[in-house]
Amino acid sequence: MDRSVLRGGSRAAINMADESSGLAAIRRDALARAETIASDQELAIVRAEFVGKKGKLGLALRALGKLPKDERPAAGQRIHAIKGVVEEALERAATRLKGDRREKKLADGAFDVTLPGRRQEYGYPHPLRLVERDIIAAFLPLGFSVASGPLVEHDWYNFEALNIPKHHPARDMQDTFFVGPSSVLRTHTSNVQIRTMTRREPPLRILAPGMVFRHDEVDPTHSPVFHQVEGLWVDELVTFANLKWVLERFAVSLFGAAARLRFRPSFFPFTEPSAEVDVSCVACAGAGETAAGEVCRLCRGSGWLEILGAGMVDPAVLAKVGYDPERFQGFAFGAGVERIAMLRWGIDDIRLFYDNDLRFLRQFRAAAFR
Ligand code: FA5
Repeated sequence: MDRSVLRGGSRAAINMADESSGLAAIRRDALARAETIASDQELAIVRAEFVGKKGKLGLALRALGKLPKDERPAAGQRIHAIKGVVEEALERAATRLKGDRREKKLADGAFDVTLPGRRQEYGYPHPLRLVERDIIAAFLPLGFSVASGPLVEHDWYNFEALNIPKHHPARDMQDTFFVGPSSVLRTHTSNVQIRTMTRREPPLRILAPGMVFRHDEVDPTHSPVFHQVEGLWVDELVTFANLKWVLERFAVSLFGAAARLRFRPSFFPFTEPSAEVDVSCVACAGAGETAAGEVCRLCRGSGWLEILGAGMVDPAVLAKVGYDPERFQGFAFGAGVERIAMLRWGIDDIRLFYDNDLRFLRQFRAAAFR
């Protein structure tokens, strides 16, 4: 390494006036060397010699401290400027070497242009997202808009405002993960009903998809983390007939024109009357048996599959959020996304959705691009 520029002390190295011996010489030298670099090893050597920490410019920078204070800024700037120019020249040399290597490979015939291209894997939405997307698409034309709420929820929004008081047996309907004395992981998307109604005046039509949590044992149809979609329509003169019409449109949109619905009386603390809603079995078209006369395995012969819970919003809930129950009525429903996806595609184990097994997920690729 040519250290001559530094020999006479640091001042010589950065003597700006002496263009021939100081920095100008380093610059000239470095640029000339960069022009002729012929290998990666040589590139590394030249880089170390000029711009490396212990290289000429590096040492010149370190020597700045020995200069009188007022000369340092200008000298520093000059060294950095030269360093920049040299680094650019070395980058050009690196690009030139890369090009040379490619040319050489081509000339040697190392590329086989007849080889097939490499397959590029690409991502696509998860089946649960697809079902969620289709549920939303079914409701948007009916004037619904998408709303959301927190996953960690205050007891009041998840339970109290929905007519589920503390210490009431109705709480046993949903095994709850408690996060603090008054906060829970939301057990259903019904919290978004309350969140929306406390913020907005009627009329409103919302759809709230999202993740929910329950302390349920994992089995083929239960998961402690799953997804629901909540629907809520509040206005003057909303009736159970409106609820039936909306859900029938939804069933046809998701399961096809032949889909029929059945409403069975049920109980939810926040709706009155309440119903469990079944769709005609997607495997046997509601017949309860296969074409060969065997009992349908999916609906176990009943011809129906449960898809959601629904009902008219209890007037007590409307009053809790400050709506006048004499003037406004509403209906609400809550559907399990996993269960709908299972029915739609004949999937018999909910755990498949969470295993992230590509062999399973790839089967939904076509549906993703529909
Ligand atoms: C509710 O959660 C009510 N909030 C639904 C509702 C909303 C009723 C508005 C009336 C008005 P339920 O606990 O039944 O209801 O749950 C709704 C759906 O979630 C079920 O039909 C089922 O499809 C799904 N579900 C419940 N528990 C699980 C679980 N552990 N794993 C997967 N899906 C589940």
